Amino acid sequence: MKANIYSTKSDLVEAAAEKLLQAARKSAQRQGRFSLALAGGSTPRDLYARLAQPAIAAQIPWARVHLFWGDERMVPPDHPDSNYRMVRESLLQRIAIPEENVHRMRGEVDPAGAAEQYQQELQRHFAGRPPRFDLILLGLGDDGHTASLFPGTWALDETEREVAEVFVPQFGAWRLTLTLPVLNHAREVWFLVCGAAKAGIVRRIGELKQPARNLPASLIHPKQGALLWLLDAEAAAMINATS
Ligand code: 6PG
Repeated sequence: MKANIYSTKSDLVEAAAEKLLQAARKSAQRQGRFSLALAGGSTPRDLYARLAQPAIAAQIPWARVHLFWGDERMVPPDHPDSNYRMVRESLLQRIAIPEENVHRMRGEVDPAGAAEQYQQELQRHFAGRPPRFDLILLGLGDDGHTASLFPGTWALDETEREVAEVFVPQFGAWRLTLTLPVLNHAREVWFLVCGAAKAGIVRRIGELKQPARNLPASLIHPKQGALLWLLDAEAAAMINATS
């Protein structure tokens, strides 16, 4: 597991913001745009808030940044559980990014319809070619899930569709998620993992000699891209990471 370990979450956020800023500028310069898929959950909120702060935000070419979501809860965009709402509050309402650059998953419609709509949005953005994000941010659940790829769900086996609607029994709720073909086609994937509660699952994944279907995060290995784990010391407490 290639990991950068930071003393505290705020150190991780500071470093991740600087790395993301550099990646955005380089992509915007080289290919005219930076296609970024955002993680949901609570961990990345502080990173998004840091990106919104003037010292960083002013250096990011937002007009050439396209924001997508790695997954979404099937709820309306103003629902407390919405990953879009979390990003709107922490980032979008504080920066000047063109509306057409914000590609949210429509959690307010039926799951299958939302998946189809997002698949079309991806095909438009990537001109019909397999979606290749410049960077995908992911979190890690304590059951080893990432995005909304949960153990035992059919989406883990999806090799054609780019977006899947999955019913997650432990939540009794529908989710939308990018599938493994998309996640593993990215130029870069960063896992952002913080807190002592994640130390056990980080160790379980770090100890694996090969990907394990019961730990979906271990199935993330970009074929032509880089994978990096950004961990705070608490989350890394039980591993020996190569950095
Ligand atoms: C979501 C996320 C999910 C998340 C992990 C970790 O929609 O919840 O995409 O995969 O990243 O569950 O969540 P925390 O960061 O809240 O621990």
